[in-house]
Amino acid sequence: MKDIMKIIAGQGLKGDFFIPGDKSISHRSVMFSALGDKPVRIKNFLNSQDCLSTVKCIQALGVKVDFINENEIVIYGKGIHGLTEPSDVLDAGNSGTTLRLMMGILAAQPFFSTFTGDQSLRKRPMRRVINPLSEMKAKLVSREDSKYLPLAIIPVDKLQAINYAMPMASAQVKSAILLAGMYAEGETIVTEPYTSRDHTERMFETFGVKLRKFGTSIGIKKVDKFVSPEEIVVPGDISSAAFWLVAASIIPNSKLIIRNIGINPTRTGILDVLKDMGANIEIVNEKWSGKEPVADFIVRSAELKGVTFGAEIMPRLIDEIPILTVAAMFAEGDTIISGAGELRVKETDRLAAIEAEFTKMGAKIQATDDGLIIHGKAALKEAECYSYHDHRIAMALAIAGMAAHGVTIQSPHCVDISYPNFYTVLNELKK
Ligand code: S3P
Repeated sequence: MKDIMKIIAGQGLKGDFFIPGDKSISHRSVMFSALGDKPVRIKNFLNSQDCLSTVKCIQALGVKVDFINENEIVIYGKGIHGLTEPSDVLDAGNSGTTLRLMMGILAAQPFFSTFTGDQSLRKRPMRRVINPLSEMKAKLVSREDSKYLPLAIIPVDKLQAINYAMPMASAQVKSAILLAGMYAEGETIVTEPYTSRDHTERMFETFGVKLRKFGTSIGIKKVDKFVSPEEIVVPGDISSAAFWLVAASIIPNSKLIIRNIGINPTRTGILDVLKDMGANIEIVNEKWSGKEPVADFIVRSAELKGVTFGAEIMPRLIDEIPILTVAAMFAEGDTIISGAGELRVKETDRLAAIEAEFTKMGAKIQATDDGLIIHGKAALKEAECYSYHDHRIAMALAIAGMAAHGVTIQSPHCVDISYPNFYTVLNELKK
């Protein structure tokens, strides 16, 4: 049987709802809690394939995890020196965050570990993490001269602090260095060209560790212990909300209320760009969920216009380019995106996937080396398009199809990586 999903065109969307927990924060909640000094209850945990990859790795490292219900788990931390040697290869599945953050943690442990991942993760670049960790005197070896998974981490006596200037803005690389840095002698300093999402830094604070922040640099000194909070309440994921923000903006007569979404300023680039495009988004009920700010969004249909944006804002909306492309397809005029070369090494080459698949729907899009040129308001048609097993490509295609004349998505179930009930919500909002 063909693995496809048919999305039909939708009229005015209406709804008032919560979206699932933030993927980045769910991963970090599990990893930090595993290294904590007492059990932590994680509420609104994102029960998706990616976060379950992290849970399975943590369990394989000897940490007990209880599932209270679908979105609530308890992690029984064993302290920062309490992990034990896994008896099998750790499998990060499709999840770059699981892999790269845990490389930082495991590089500092006194035992041997190995990692693999799915077909997509085995093609993604690993030197960006292996290089700085090797400078810290960690020992990691992997396929094709340390380029790709599978990967082995060999125990060393101790790690040395480094002062590292990252060639790219990447929260995964930054986090791996900080997590290794907490075990190293001296102060490890990491500097990014632009600040990427800072959930790791906030999570360190939640577990009682002070970091030194200056400009786009972060310093961490050797850590004695993690003091666990009793619970962590994960905010809703703005990267998942992004699909509905764009859907309601471009489908006439829509009004959606989306509740309890994380509005960490390192993640809200999507709001800035959509507002520049003329979107009608109200942000209300701002409050704190631990160290992370959250709010409700009210979004109504609007006439959008094309915009230009580039490298500086990119880390604040890197995961939203597929759905912002859809916004641009429905906007008046051209949208020009640059500084997005990182998209070529995500779950798939997203620039190539965006150009190929939306073109099948009639969109006028050119991928450049590091971005996209989208000519708005091209005549769209129904089409059959491929997700490349990339969750964000599948969801962006679904929204474009719903706003245009329908779409058939091949390999649609990859949405389970970050938003397991995405298609159910989509159908409910159309009613
Ligand atoms: C993530 C960081 C980003 C993002 C990914 C999640 C994280 O990747 O694209 O979906 O949780 O740290 P990079 O840090 O590689 O840009």
